[in-house]
Amino acid sequence: MLAKVLQSIDARRERALGELAELLAIPSVSTSPAHADDVRQCAVHLAGVLGAIGLSASVRETAGHPIVLASTSRRENRPTILFYAHYDVQPPDPLELWRTPPFEATVAKDENGFDAIFARGAIDDKGQLWCHVEAIRAWQDAGGMPVNLVVVLEGEEEIGSPSLEVFVRENRDSLRADLCVISDTGLFARGVPAITYSLRGLVYEEVFLTGPSHDLHSGGYGGAVPNPANVLCELLATLHDADGRVNIPGFYDEVTALTADEKVMWAKLPFDERHFFDELKLSSGFGEKGFTTLERLWARPTCDINGITAGYQGHGAKTVIGAKASAKVSMRLVPNQDPMKIQRAFRAALAERCPRNVKIEFANHGLSPAAIVPIDTPATKLAGEALKVGFGKEPAFIRSGGSIPVVGLMKKELGIDTLLVGFGLPDDRVHSPNEKMDLECFYAGTRTAAALYEKLALLK
Ligand code: BES
Ligand code: MN
Ligand code: MN
Repeated sequence: MLAKVLQSIDARRERALGELAELLAIPSVSTSPAHADDVRQCAVHLAGVLGAIGLSASVRETAGHPIVLASTSRRENRPTILFYAHYDVQPPDPLELWRTPPFEATVAKDENGFDAIFARGAIDDKGQLWCHVEAIRAWQDAGGMPVNLVVVLEGEEEIGSPSLEVFVRENRDSLRADLCVISDTGLFARGVPAITYSLRGLVYEEVFLTGPSHDLHSGGYGGAVPNPANVLCELLATLHDADGRVNIPGFYDEVTALTADEKVMWAKLPFDERHFFDELKLSSGFGEKGFTTLERLWARPTCDINGITAGYQGHGAKTVIGAKASAKVSMRLVPNQDPMKIQRAFRAALAERCPRNVKIEFANHGLSPAAIVPIDTPATKLAGEALKVGFGKEPAFIRSGGSIPVVGLMKKELGIDTLLVGFGLPDDRVHSPNEKMDLECFYAGTRTAAALYEKLALLK
């Protein structure tokens, strides 16, 4: 049966690519209110697609952007797989750095001569989502999915999934499943397929400083009043010590050491440090002393400024001391760190370091723990076989520095583990201009998804 399904997938390559391009043309930017209608249109489009291939599909309202829920009819004695993906995308900015328009998908060679489809959302996550759509379509055409399938497509992943928890709670019965499958990660490298078994968590904070009641002439007042922009720089500069460690009391208290097994496993991965930094045109890296680059990315927590707003930003010079300054700071967490505790520690450290004549306030934009899923399960073994079908190789077991808060939610609310089988490449420029999905990965990913659904039927 699988052979026939794979054949029909291969025969449909061109159409699949064309239909992916249609999906990529919808600017479903979740963070931008101006795109709310596009986000909705994207949900409606996807529900239509899933309906057309024989699933019962609907667009569900939430307090934010809608969620697409679809399923096959449940048959006893078959395992149920919950496939989750997100159809929202990051803003395309800065627009001037795109070589082709972000919402006109373009097939072209990448910098290394590999064919790829370029667009915002190509790899994160519409292209990977489309691999599954094609796989599901092929199985439906061949008589039906080998497993019971529930599909959840979210429109708010890139803004921290604010409505998903309530949705999952309210639909617990329809979402009942044995396993969650997500394709929103990547291979370790070209030719090295992977199963991701851990993701970092995220605490995203914004800090606001207020000094004088209004903007001041920097000559008339400078030197005699606290300047929030100066204070902000001083505060942010305290966040790391000279060894690259995060300088927040208690920050590392719950961080567990890497096991010897993992160290050995990671040391065997074909990681090319030189290539990693060359791609970024950097002469060297940065990070905590005593750890390798992979360890820093996968097993150590971070604190990074993601945005700074202070003073005059316009053309030319304006001699002014701004009354306010602010910064956005994200902290990536590793397993066992408690997001709330880290948030409290961050706020306490900055509040304590802030001069008394400058007001400091905080807002939160996300709190989620790291995820870690077991490796030695039947599902992982079956996923390995599926990757072998799709990519011709056994997978590596890797972690990732990114975050998918949904993984923790599925465990907490539905009691199920998640299988992270992704088809991205390290140089896909996720969240950046010229985002792409490699066409080989697109086709191999589709084959993998098709094989995965067949293999997972053996779970029960
Ligand atoms: N697909 C990414 C997460 C990811 C990135 C996994 C790279 C593996 C490698 C996801 O869409 C994402 O961007 N997540 C956000 C989460 C946040 C908005 C809560 C992230 O990691 O910043
Ligand atoms: Mn994603
Ligand atoms: Mn993303």
